[in-house]
Order: sequence, then structure tokens, then C-alpha cells
Amino acid sequence: MKERDFSVVILAAGKGTRMKSSLPKILHPVAGMPMINRVIEGVKSAGAKEVRVVLGYGESLVKRVIEPLGVNCFKQESQLGTADAVKSANIEDIEGDVLIINGDHPLIVKSDIIKMYDDFKSSKSDLQVTTVKLKNPKEFGRIVRHKGEIRAIVEAKDASHETLQINEVNTGIYFLKSQVLQELLPEIKSDNSQNEYYITDLVSMCLESQLKVSTSSCSRSVSFGVNSQIELSKASKYIYNRNAKRVMEEGATIVDSQNTYIEDGVKIGESSVIFPGVYLKGTSRIGKYCVIEQNSFLNNMILHDGVIIRAMSHLEASVIKSKSTIGPYARIRPETLVEEGAHIGNFVELKKTTFGKGSKAGHLAYLGDAEIGEDVNIGCGTITCNYDVDRKKYKTIIGDGVFVGSDSQLVAPVEVGANANIASGSTITKNIPDNGFAIARGRQITKENYVPRKMRENKES
Ligand code: UD1
Ligand code: CA
Repeated sequence: MKERDFSVVILAAGKGTRMKSSLPKILHPVAGMPMINRVIEGVKSAGAKEVRVVLGYGESLVKRVIEPLGVNCFKQESQLGTADAVKSANIEDIEGDVLIINGDHPLIVKSDIIKMYDDFKSSKSDLQVTTVKLKNPKEFGRIVRHKGEIRAIVEAKDASHETLQINEVNTGIYFLKSQVLQELLPEIKSDNSQNEYYITDLVSMCLESQLKVSTSSCSRSVSFGVNSQIELSKASKYIYNRNAKRVMEEGATIVDSQNTYIEDGVKIGESSVIFPGVYLKGTSRIGKYCVIEQNSFLNNMILHDGVIIRAMSHLEASVIKSKSTIGPYARIRPETLVEEGAHIGNFVELKKTTFGKGSKAGHLAYLGDAEIGEDVNIGCGTITCNYDVDRKKYKTIIGDGVFVGSDSQLVAPVEVGANANIASGSTITKNIPDNGFAIARGRQITKENYVPRKMRENKES
């Protein structure tokens, strides 16, 4: 047997009415990841052997999102309360220790669950309730104790004025032995103010059956449940702050950590500087000595050392090699590779393009499905015409040392040989050999004294 060996039941059938959103509550992303995925990831990383998720509202949509994570989904037909929800997870065939947890507590992490399970093991109890003390316990179930020992959980809606003064509350996270579920769950009644089947009744029922009930305390973040858009935003903020702190501890400079958005999978090298408003998404890897200026968005990007991303740039699923500069206002679309020491300037868009070492595209260009060599100069206004009337994409290949004059179009498929020169305003439709010169534009016609006499007289007077 593994050191930690437990099954999990995640309760997630609720609609989340207070979100006022048609998306099921648990699919709302917290710092870029659906909140249910955070809970699943937390329990799995802590060693869960099997994860069962109880779904209701939006079941088929939620299933599509979470089944790839290797969980088993169950449906609760109507929402009759938390005990009924647990019952829906086919508890007859669960063995060993069981963790019950809500799907809307996205701030929980591996170490929280490990602590709870270790507490449960050492308490040798049959049921453990995770509790926390809150200044303002609001709707949480209150922990009623007698001589220090837990006696019951009383729901806020059923509590007396006196009980409501208790500030130790139930987080809705329990460790228990599977036999407790199998024996006592069917006995739970719905004789309370909400006519619901409360899982919390297990506490008093265990005690009546001479079973041992214990408590384990947790941090406030564990108890933080998301029920509204405001709480959703708070949860995201918490994680962005946590990640900003992590990268700062690893040596990155975050100019304003309250206004920087770094997802969990992102890594940043030492001495890199991140300016406000930057959003770093997915598995982005930022090297050392990089600078990312204001309001840039990077998703699944790889930046080698010493890269500068100037303000307002949008980059996705690409690689930028060391000492290159990008932006301001640049767009790097997926499958692009910018080689060392290259420069991509303002209003330049690259898509599925290899851009060679030391090459430059300073302003206003579209380079798509292109292979561009080293030390190439791409003039302002250059366009690779990669999309033909047959709706297929074609390649543009530009050799080393090429000079592309401003406002040129390269109609793909087309190849430009090394060190070739293209005159400004050309529409290139044919291949150009190495060291060739191509000019492809209408000839200028200049006529002398062509302006009618009347117009000339008007201007002169
Ligand atoms: C429950 C606890 C309360 C605790 C609180 C912590 C009960 C009776 N009360 O409160 O003591 O302080 O959690 O957050 O258990 N769900 C279902 N099916 C249902 C009902 C609920 O799947 O029929 C799911 C919800 O989607 C949610 C979780 O169970 O993820 C908790 O339900 P919720 O209504 O938010 O909690 P409370 O009943 O208010
Ligand atoms: Ca409820």
C-alpha cells in the first residue's frame, strides 16, 4: 500500500445561481484554470487513488472538461442536499479512506490535503471535519463543541442566535472511513429548515454510534469557496499574487505585483523584469535578463535569455531566441521561430514563420508561412501573400542577406535567392536567383507642362 491511499468524492452538482452566468459555476476559470480542475489537481497530486465527481447542472459540458483528467463522473438527479450528492457517487463500492470535498474551493493545494490526511491518520478517528476560524462566518455551518470535543455541525439556517456566535466553521471537507459512509449515509434524514439531506449530520450520528470524530484545522484559503463573480475575482487575484511572489523569490523583478497576471505553469529566469499589465499564460518560459513591457500578452511562449518584448505585444506558442527585440505592438502567432538577435518592430505580424538570426522587420509587415534567412532586411509594408484563391497556404522562402524594399508583396509560392535585392513597391510573383535584383512595379510616366493652363494660372495668382 502507498503511504497515502484514499478515494475522493467531489461535490459539484450545484448550479451556482449567484454567479448569474450560464456557464456551470465550477467551470469558471480561476487564474486561467477551471476551478474544478484546480480541486482535481490538488487531490491527485496529494495521492488520491480514485476521484469521483458528482455532477448535476451542465453535466455533459463539465464531463467533457474533466473526464480527460482521469476522473469518474456521477450524476445527482435532483439536488436534495450534500448527503444525497455523496450517495450519488455509488459509495457502496468505495473502500478505505475517503475524502469528501466541494468542487468550488479552488485555492486548495496538495500540501493542505496532505496535512489533513496526516491528521486523520494520526487521530485514528472514523470521521474528521476540517474547520477554520473566521471573523465573519456568515453562512458556514458552525462547529459545536462540548469540553473541547466536536459534538455537531449546525447549519447557519438552522442555528440559534447563540450558536451563530461560534466562529469556528465547517469547510465542507471531510476525511472518513468508507464503512461510515456505507452504514450511516442511508440513515440521514431531511428534517431541517431546508428539507435537505445534510452530510454534516454524520458528526452527531457517528458520536451516537460510539465512533470517533476529530477535527483538523486549515488555513483561510482552503475554506475559501467561490459563489459569486466577486469571489471568483478574489480567488484569481490570490493565485496571481501567489505566482508573482514565487517568481520574485526566484529572482525576477515584478514592477507592480498587484497588476501582473502570471499563471501557475509559467517560469521566469532571474534578473528579468516584468512591467505592469503583463499577462503570462500557460507554460510560458521566460529566460534570464528579459524585459517584458506594459500590457503584453504571452501564451505558451518560450523566450531565451535577454529578449525584449516592447509594450502592447501579443505572442502565442512560439520561440524567441536570445537578444531579439519584439514590438511595440507586434503580433507573433503560433509556430513562429525568431532566431538570435533579430528585430521585429511595430505593427509586424508573424505567423508560422522562421525569422533568421540578425534579420529585421522594423515596421508594418505581414510575414506568414515564410522561411526567412539571416541578416535579411524586410522593408516597411512588406506582405507575404500566402493565401491563394484555392484557399490553400503557400510558402515564401527568403535567403540570407536579402533586402526587401518597402511596400513589396511576395506572392507565394516564391523563393528569393541569397543576397537578392527587391525594389520598393514590387509585386514578386517569380523566383529570384542568388544576388539577383528584381523590380516589379508600374513604370512612372512623367509628362511636362501637362497641367491645364487654367489650373496653373489659379495657383500662380
Ligand atoms: C455546506 C455545509 C456547511 C459548510 C459549507 C462549506 C452541508 C449541509 N453544509 O454548506 O456546513 O460550512 O458547505 O462550504 O453540507 N452540492 C451538490 N448537491 C446538492 C447540494 C450541494 O452537489 O444537492 C454541492 C454543491 O455544488 C457544492 C457543495 O455541494 O459544491 C456544497 O454545497 P453548498 O450548497 O454550497 O454548501 P452549503 O449547503 O451551503
Ligand atoms: Ca445548500
